[in-house]
Amino acid sequence: MPEISVQNISKSFRDVKAVQGISFEIERGEFVGLLGPNGAGKTTTVEMLEGLRRPDSGHIFIQGKTWDRNERDLRKIIGLSLQETRFAEKLSIRETLRLFASFFDLGIDNVAEVIAMTGLDAKADAMVGSLSGGQRQRLALAVALLNSPQVLFLDEPTTGLDPHSRLDLWNILKTLKDKGNTTLILTTHYMEEAETLCDRIIIIDDGQIIRTGQLNQLLDPDTRNLDELFIKLTGKQLHAQNDER
Ligand SMILES: Nc1ncnc2c1ncn2[C@@H]1O[C@H](COP(=O)(O)OP(=O)(O)O)[C@@H](O)[C@H]1O
Ligand SMILES: [Mg+2]
Repeated sequence: MPEISVQNISKSFRDVKAVQGISFEIERGEFVGLLGPNGAGKTTTVEMLEGLRRPDSGHIFIQGKTWDRNERDLRKIIGLSLQETRFAEKLSIRETLRLFASFFDLGIDNVAEVIAMTGLDAKADAMVGSLSGGQRQRLALAVALLNSPQVLFLDEPTTGLDPHSRLDLWNILKTLKDKGNTTLILTTHYMEEAETLCDRIIIIDDGQIIRTGQLNQLLDPDTRNLDELFIKLTGKQLHAQNDER
C-alpha cells in the first residue's frame, strides 16, 4: 500500500479551478516536491492532503485512511507547516513549542528534541519577535516535527529566505531524510530545492500535473535543468520576474 494515494482530486473557488484532477501515489519514506509557479495550485493541493480543505471531488488516502473517517488517527501521524505561518511575537521559541506540545499531549522532551534538530538551541529563550526569517522558518519546522510525524507537509519552507538560511533548512531536512522515518511532500518554486531534497518531482501548472518523475528521468539532452524543462512544457518561466514574497 502506498503511504499516500491521491485519486483525481479537484477544487474550485467560485470560478477559479485551483486544482483540476490531480492523481499521484507516494511510497513510505519518499521525499516528493510539488514544483510550480505562483497560482499553480500547490497550496490548495497540500491543504486538501492536510485535511484542511475538502476536495470537491476525488479521494485521498494516507496509510489507507481518509480525513472523513479517520481524522483523529491522521492528526497524530502528520506534521505540517503552512505557507507564511505566524507565531505570537512575545513568546519565546521554547514557550511557543511548549504551547504546541501541550495541544498534542507531548512533554518537554519533545520540545528539547526539536529545538536540537532545528539548531535553535542558542535562540531557545529569545522572543519570536526578535527572530530572523530563517529562524522563524526553522521554528515552523520545529512545530511541524513536534509529534515525530510519519508524514510531513511543508508549504514553501524556504521562500523569501537568503541563500545561507535556505542551506541551513535543507541540511535539517537532509538529516531527516537520512533517518528514513518520514515521508515528505514539500511545495516550492525553487528548482534547486526540488533537485537537492526530493526523490521525485511533480510539476504542476494551472491545477494539473504536467510531468512527474525523478530528476534524471525528467531531463533530456535539450533541457539542462527544471527551469528549462518548465519553459519547454508550458512556454512560461517557473520564476516570474517579481515573485519574491
Ligand atoms: N481561498 C481562496 N479563494 C479564492 N481563490 C483562491 C483561494 N486559494 C487559492 N485560490 C486561487 O486558486 C489558484 C491556486 O492557488 P494556490 O493553490 O494558492 O497556488 P500556489 O500555492 O501554487 O501558488 C490561484 O488562482 C489562487 O488565486
Ligand atoms: Mg502556495
